[in-house]
Parts: sequence; C-alpha cells; structure tokens
Amino acid sequence: MGLLTGGGDCPGLNAVIRAVVRKGETFYGDQLVGFLDGWRGVMERETMSLDIERCRGLLPKGGTILGTSRTNPYKVEGGPQQALDGLRAEGVDALIAIGGDDTLGVAAKLAAEGLMVVGVPKTIDNDLSGTEVTFGFDTAVQIATDAIDRLHTTAESHDRVMVVEVMGRHAGWIATEAGIAGGAAEILIPEEPFDIEAICERLRGRHDRGRYASLVVVAEGAAPVAGTMELQSGELDAFGHVRLGGIANRVAQGIESRTGFETRVTILGHIQRGGTPTAFDRVLATRFGIAAIDAVHAGASGEMVALQAGQIVRVPLSVAVGKSKTVDPGLYHGVAEVFFG
Ligand code: F6P
Repeated sequence: MGLLTGGGDCPGLNAVIRAVVRKGETFYGDQLVGFLDGWRGVMERETMSLDIERCRGLLPKGGTILGTSRTNPYKVEGGPQQALDGLRAEGVDALIAIGGDDTLGVAAKLAAEGLMVVGVPKTIDNDLSGTEVTFGFDTAVQIATDAIDRLHTTAESHDRVMVVEVMGRHAGWIATEAGIAGGAAEILIPEEPFDIEAICERLRGRHDRGRYASLVVVAEGAAPVAGTMELQSGELDAFGHVRLGGIANRVAQGIESRTGFETRVTILGHIQRGGTPTAFDRVLATRFGIAAIDAVHAGASGEMVALQAGQIVRVPLSVAVGKSKTVDPGLYHGVAEVFFG
C-alpha cells in the first residue's frame, strides 16, 4: 500500500498517515510504503517504509514526515507513465493520495488510467468540493483568530487600522471565519471584489462614532472591483497558480491615503500552516485516514473520503476536483457583513 502527501503542507497530515498505518497494519495486514515529496517520490521512486513504530508520537506533529512538493507528472514528458511504472516497481497495489485540488486532480487522471487510488482531502484553504471541511482549516482559522485578537489590543492602544492578510487563493474561508471569530470591521475575499471607497467610508463612520481602531482581514486572493486599483502579477507554479501575497499592502495604502488613519499591515503567511493541529483537525484527520484504508479494501478506486453532515462518506474524485468550494454567500453576507463598519 502506497501513501503520499502533495501540495502545500497542512496540520493533520501526520495524523492521517498514522491512522492509515495503524489500521492497515493491524486490521488488514498491509505493508505500507510512503513516497517522498508527493508525486515526485512516485516518479523518482524515493520511498520510506512506514510501520506503527515509525508513526509513534506523530499525532500532534505538524507538517508531513513524507515531505511534499507541487510536482505535477502531467507537466513532465512521459510523467504519468513514469509514475505508474514507479508504483509497479515498488510493488504497490493501491495508493492513498493525501492532497488538495492539484494532487487529487492527478490522482483522478491516474485512476482513469487504471491505478487503484483513493484520495484524502487536505488544504488549509477549505476549498475542496465534496466535503464540508478539510483538515488543517480549523487549525489555520484558530491561528488567524489568535493573531487578530492580539492585533486588536495594539490597534486600540494606538487608534490604528490593522490590515491582516491570511491565506486563501480562490476562496476566502479562512478570512471569513477568522474575521467573524475575531470581530473584523471588514473582510475581503476572492469571491467578492472589494470597493476601497466603500470600505473607507465605513471606516470613517467608525471613526466618527469615536473608535476607529479597526481590523481589516484580507484573503491573499482578494481583488478590487475591476479598474479601481492596480495589482502586481506574480510567477506561476507547476499547476499554473500565481504566487500570491501582498494585497494587504495595497489595501493599507488605499485606506491610509484616503482616510488619513494610521494603518499597519501584518501578513500571516506560512505561520497559518505550521505547528500542531487542533483537536478537531486531529480527530478529522484520523477519521479520514481510517476511512481511506477501508475504502481501498472496499475497492473504492477513484474516490475520496469526505465529511458530510458529520459522517464520513465517499465521493468520486471528479466531484472533489471539478470546481472549488467557495465561501457560502449566506455566511459572508448574512453573518460576517452584519458586523462591517
Ligand atoms: O495550500 C494552500 C496554500 O496554503 C494557499 O493558501 C497559498 O496560496 C499557497 O498554499 C502557498 O503556497 P506555497 O507554500 O507554495 O508558497
């Protein structure tokens, strides 16, 4: 049985590995092998043997003992065949791929070519379809909320606007939930192009009411209404994603120049992905790991384990990778927005 972790790391990956190994070894008598750095290890046959002893103490540990990368076999000449050959050469009957949209997109294509593969949804961004939540998201929201709480006190002392940038390329789940939890005055997400003039108007309103210390939470993928602000473009990775980061600086300049309010920026970046998973993520990751090894033994190739209405279910990988799961408009407009300004 092969195992890999691909894409950006996220708290809870080791908990999935531990659960797969525990149930695979004790219940099914499986022999497990981990591929290093996602699809790169499969293509280059770089492996690590996995057993219960190797997994001791892993549950609270962030990151992934297997390493990860954004290698895309479909961007390499002969890559898919190299991956299938690598798996065969290692004697792998089935593969469990733990990843987000990109890693599972590759898994779906290889499943169509005959590979026995089951997916486990992972991303701090929580933007995978087919599952209500991915592990890692709860931890990222907690880290961002803790940061917002800390920034609140210093913002109040200095009567400043604090702009906090959180991760979220295509979906603003972290920004929305951490913003609600942290009492943000504004939340900017990729799904809703923002109007800097309207934001400044509301911040002035707060100021007029005598308290303008304001927390503005910005998802890294947030963008202004077309034509209202200039943005820089970044480089692309193997899956064609732009390297983001820095929108908070543009927003802060926009606010300070229009309102005159002293404004500071904090970009949380990879702090949100590091360190120990929350109890929620440890439990979810463990449930996913056990369901994944069960799915393999049930012959559920081309499927992904998922959380729906509190239960672990299986959905086709094609459902998960077809379309990103964006923020529920009811949560953004019906809840978060009530507290804007
Ligand atoms: O894994 C998702 C994510 O954390 C995004 O939120 C972010 O844009 C990206 O990864 C950052 O990737 P990297 O670690 O490669 O800079």
